[in-house]
Amino acid sequence: MISCKKRAKYIFLLPFLFLFFVVSSAFAQEAAQVGTAGVTPGSETPAAGGGADAGVIDAGSTLFKNNCTQCHSVGTDVVVGPGLKDVHKRRTDDWLKKWIKNSSALIQSGDKQAVEVFNQYAKQQMPSFALSDDELGAIIAYMKKESETPTAVTGPGGIEGNTAGTNTGENSIGAVNSSSIDLLLVVLVIVLIVLVITLVIIASVLKNYLANKSDLTGAEQEMLAQRTNWANIYKSRAVRILVGLIVVVVLVDLTMDKVMGIGIQQGYAPRQPIAFSHKLHAGDHQINCNYCHTSVYKSASANIPSANICMNCHSQIKKESPEIQKIYRAIENNKPIEWVRVHNLPDLAYFNHSQHTKVGGVECQTCHGPIETMEVVAQYSPLTMGWCIDCHRNTPMNTEGNAYYDNLVKLHEQQSKGAFVVASNGGTECSKCHY
Ligand code: HEC
Ligand code: HEC
Ligand code: HEC
Ligand code: HEC
Ligand code: HEC
Ligand code: HEC
Repeated sequence: MISCKKRAKYIFLLPFLFLFFVVSSAFAQEAAQVGTAGVTPGSETPAAGGGADAGVIDAGSTLFKNNCTQCHSVGTDVVVGPGLKDVHKRRTDDWLKKWIKNSSALIQSGDKQAVEVFNQYAKQQMPSFALSDDELGAIIAYMKKESETPTAVTGPGGIEGNTAGTNTGENSIGAVNSSSIDLLLVVLVIVLIVLVITLVIIASVLKNYLANKSDLTGAEQEMLAQRTNWANIYKSRAVRILVGLIVVVVLVDLTMDKVMGIGIQQGYAPRQPIAFSHKLHAGDHQINCNYCHTSVYKSASANIPSANICMNCHSQIKKESPEIQKIYRAIENNKPIEWVRVHNLPDLAYFNHSQHTKVGGVECQTCHGPIETMEVVAQYSPLTMGWCIDCHRNTPMNTEGNAYYDNLVKLHEQQSKGAFVVASNGGTECSKCHY
């Protein structure tokens, strides 16, 4: 009997143990995520190619996948451009660098080889790439290595995560952000459950203890025998007031949401003039976002691609499809395709894409949702001021390897313990977003 009671005494520690385990493992996971988030663009750029070390080839492989695989493989011709197997045997490294940087300049300079490939490929223009010498070296090293591998066919696509060219540090900043909210909710629920369980256990342990005592009065014994009386609880004034209050709060909250929601277009998914599918292009065929939205890493607004960009592929692919015929007609009539705008901030607010995508390393999907699964684009985020500010309060700045921030971060660490988030850098000042 005694040993049994002893065990009962410690049983209520179990839920706490469980809680400790869950919370600590969740935080460990999050810490790991934060750890991967701060890699800065370009910080891994290796020394110039040639002496092909594994790191260089790796970096080259990433650059190639992000910038070139829509049009090339290191194998035979695919989609648009020529196959690049053994290209280093046809051309010098110097020629390759000039070509990749700015092929049209090379063609215009009258370079014989350049004019030749250009004519051979139906006079299509290969885009220019603002890559550094080191990055170009890495790509060339990768192409050499792939040419030597017998099974060297990098198919079209294979573009990981649809991220930007050289921006290797885009991962999981947003994910940490939303997952910590989820984490908080989970912890709250667990704490509540543990509390209730503990109370129930304590009550039953006490009851057991008292039941074994012989010197109880009649009234006390009656109380002990009492079961929970739900009807009484329901009739109690306090409980009714509480329930009433909760209902009122929920109703007010819902109507506030509706009132505040005027002008919010979350979920807006207009029909477009051509049945263009992001799922097909960005998902199934893994075409990089900035292949079409070419200005999204460079300027304030992301452009919608012109019909010419569609023609890079559709001059050859699915020519006979009625939807593709619409693109042809737009070009023939010299009239732009009239895409219906989905996202639209009021003029009073200023938003800059490159600040977020290139400098901040925020992924498109953090703000636009899983675009690569959408047949028709829908507005995923509310685009309200509160939404912008929330993220600025919670998102750590991408400061690593950026000398401009080093002193600011030091100052911040002296003054406060929290992370150096966007708000610490003035990201909630009115003038940053309003003229
Ligand atoms: C929009 C499609 C497109 C993209 C993206 C693209 N290219 Fe090209 N590339 C072409 C086309 C088309 C040609 C053929 C020449 C021409 O028409 O200008 C070409 C030609 C080349 C050539 C010359 C091949 C030869 O036989 O001499 C090289 C080298 C090359 N590209 C490398 C690259 C690299 C490296 C990247 C990525 C940094 C890249 N290209 C990205 C379309 C593209
Ligand atoms: C093959 C070209 C192409 C690719 C690749 C592409 N897009 Fe688009 N995108 C378009 C076109 C065309 C439109 C306009 C029609 C529409 O809304 O569907 C558009 C519209 C959008 C819009 C809505 C713009 C508005 O009106 O507010 C967003 C957001 C967007 N794209 C994000 C992305 C993201 C993120 C990716 C990469 C995962 C991507 N796009 C890849 C062609 C492309
Ligand atoms: C890098 C290549 C590429 C570019 C650029 C591209 N597409 Fe496509 N598109 C494809 C491929 C591949 C398919 C799938 C063809 C198939 O299913 O056989 C496709 C399919 C389509 C279809 C479906 C056709 C049908 O009837 O099944 C439409 C519509 C379309 N594209 C519109 C566009 C528009 C509009 C643009 C320009 C904003 C564009 N595409 C740019 C590669 C491209
Ligand atoms: C920090 C949030 C955020 C990120 C990250 C982001 N966008 Fe946007 N995007 C917006 C907002 C806000 C608008 C509406 C801008 C406006 O109306 O002025 C928008 C609008 C657009 C549009 C419509 C054209 C325009 O500029 O208004 C396109 C296309 C687009 N985004 C594509 C992308 C692509 C592709 C990426 C990733 C490379 C991306 N966005 C990353 C928030 C974001
Ligand atoms: C998903 C997170 C996220 C959202 C949502 C977001 N931002 Fe940002 N924003 C950032 C990050 C990260 C930076 C820091 C970029 C850097 O390193 O400079 C930033 C920086 C800025 C800056 C520059 C601040 C400075 O100190 O120079 C402005 C302006 C800005 N954002 C405006 C907006 C507006 C307007 C919206 C809403 C329409 C918005 N942002 C939504 C993450 C976000
Ligand atoms: C991070 C960016 C950001 C900052 C910082 C910011 N705003 Fe805004 N603000 C926005 C955006 C985006 C909108 C438009 C959103 C909408 O229409 O819901 C907006 C809308 C507004 C509006 C118009 C509301 C309406 O319903 O038309 C006012 C007024 C305003 N902001 C005042 C301020 C003041 C005052 C500050 C400084 C305390 C401030 N904002 C700081 C992004 C910002």
